[in-house]
Amino acid sequence: MLILVTGATGQVGRRFVPRLLQNTAPGDEVRVLVRDAARGERFAELGAQVQVGDLRDTDVLGKATAGVEAVVNVAAAFRGVPDEEAQAVNRDAAIELGRAAVASGVRRFVQVSTGLVYGAGRGRPLVEGDETVPGGHLWGAYPQSKWEAERALGAMDGLDDLRIGRLPFVYGDGDPHLDNVMDWAPNWPAMQRLHMGHHADVAQGLQRLLYAPGATGVYNIADDAPVTTVDLFQLNGVPVPREAYDKDAADPWHSVMSTTRIRHELGYRPLFPSVWTARDAGAL
Ligand SMILES: NC(=O)c1ccc[n+]([C@@H]2O[C@H](COP(=O)([O-])OP(=O)(O)OC[C@H]3O[C@@H](n4cnc5c(N)ncnc54)[C@H](OP(=O)(O)O)[C@@H]3O)[C@@H](O)[C@H]2O)c1
Repeated sequence: MLILVTGATGQVGRRFVPRLLQNTAPGDEVRVLVRDAARGERFAELGAQVQVGDLRDTDVLGKATAGVEAVVNVAAAFRGVPDEEAQAVNRDAAIELGRAAVASGVRRFVQVSTGLVYGAGRGRPLVEGDETVPGGHLWGAYPQSKWEAERALGAMDGLDDLRIGRLPFVYGDGDPHLDNVMDWAPNWPAMQRLHMGHHADVAQGLQRLLYAPGATGVYNIADDAPVTTVDLFQLNGVPVPREAYDKDAADPWHSVMSTTRIRHELGYRPLFPSVWTARDAGAL
């Protein structure tokens, strides 16, 4: 099976692809789509095929999906990009990639999404059958575009084996994401929670989604211990500002996901059940 992975140069992709290359089933091969040929060299050295091009270019999508049996669409635009770019990449290009996959006879499509598509919290961990409730403190073009992509791919004729992995806040393996938290955590209430997932577990979850027979539909991927804003400060060794305790967490269940489905159906068990375990293991 030839597997196409988009977004290989991103924070998730650059850690997922090497793990995938180490764990592919015998005979399987990996092709990555990258925008910059020089940044693709690292993946070629690891044994991947490299297709250079932009996800928004439909000619590129035809070449990228040629001969492919499974796609893992990791690519997204959400780090400091205008809303138009988020919509163009996360929704429009993801849909075009789905169409190209169908045209190329791809059997399986794994769409990497985000727990933010649930929108508002439900007063309990979010389960995959929960309808999206747009809104909440992190709603915007990014979750909206990922949500629209999920729906369009789910309704696409010919894309019968669609698997959607909804990720939490991803950290670890030197990803600066946990440091960057300090850009916005000072505005959060002390008891606001955030669900986390280490890169090793995101890779584990996506590989299970990719390979498990019959694993169609949505799966949450996360650890066992959502943190609070206080944890984020403590992880970064920064005192918690007093103002954080004056703010009420309007939606303490926002982004907190149940992992029951992926645990029961696919045998997923987080290697790092909490960010504190990862810290103790030197895996931040
Ligand atoms: N990181 C998290 O905490 C988190 C949480 C929930 C969900 N997710 C999901 O996980 C996935 C990966 O996120 P990430 O943190 O790795 O993001 P990232 O670091 O911003 O990486 C995004 C990747 O997408 C590629 N990309 C963006 N626009 C593209 C385009 N027009 N054509 C081709 N490639 C394009 C980027 O390529 P360049 O390197 O060339 O820019 C990069 O490889 C996304 O689907 C995101 O929604 C992430």
